[in-house]
Amino acid sequence: MSIEHLRVIRGKRPALHDFSVRIPRGTITGLLGPSGCGKTTLMRCIVGTQIVAAGSVTVLGRPAGSAELRHRVGYVTQEPTIYDDLRVVDNVRYFGALYGTDAQAADDAIEAVGLTDHRTALCGNLSGGQRTRVSLASALVCHPELLVLDEPTVGLDPVLRVDLWEQFHALARAGTTLIVSSHVMDEADHCGELLLMREGHLLAHTTPSKLREDTGCTALEEAFLSVIKRSTAAAAG
Ligand SMILES: Nc1ncnc2c1ncn2[C@@H]1O[C@H](COP(=O)(O)OP(=O)(O)O)[C@@H](O)[C@H]1O
Ligand SMILES: [Mg+2]
Repeated sequence: MSIEHLRVIRGKRPALHDFSVRIPRGTITGLLGPSGCGKTTLMRCIVGTQIVAAGSVTVLGRPAGSAELRHRVGYVTQEPTIYDDLRVVDNVRYFGALYGTDAQAADDAIEAVGLTDHRTALCGNLSGGQRTRVSLASALVCHPELLVLDEPTVGLDPVLRVDLWEQFHALARAGTTLIVSSHVMDEADHCGELLLMREGHLLAHTTPSKLREDTGCTALEEAFLSVIKRSTAAAAG
């Protein structure tokens, strides 16, 4: 995936300024930065639902949002998009049907997110973590090559978070490219590559070990703050 000189305006203010990055296939890339720094905006550009003011986004060799990419790119929005009045299995089958997949594909996706025991539960009765997983299964049902996940672990208890990350790693091992956003740095260690963002800018494209090496900080939270300080000093001087 390649993003070149991307500029996006939201609510009259720039949400992304001249943003360029290349993301390799087959990795888990973490999009990290505080609330409002542009993570969701960047993801919307990647899946092709954001109006851009300038620049280009190329995904799996095609312009973002191309019709051909529809079944190759899965997007799990920050607020799970699921139907509360449907059972888990019907929710996933519904999304599968949009892409022409069968009932078996729905069962496989439900299995992949560990919800087989709840497949006939009504979505309205599920916990927050289970809802996120239904949303994930609905994205997985079309076997996307690229999976874009917007803060999928927010509000989940630590055990569920670990569980979800294990599922992301299993997907990556099977060849899926994942882009996962988070506003908490302690999730960065799960990612192969890191994009550190602030106020619509890319501060650093790095890896957890390189970030530690470059900053001399063991805790990634601290390392991120050190990168911010350095970039602020560079801008001032
Ligand atoms: N619907 C919207 N209308 C106007 N401005 C928005 C809207 N959504 C987000 N923004 C602005 O765009 C910027 C980036 O937001 P967003 O991409 O949602 O950040 P993040 O996902 O990192 O929290 C913020 O300044 C935010 O206020
Ligand atoms: Mg967001």
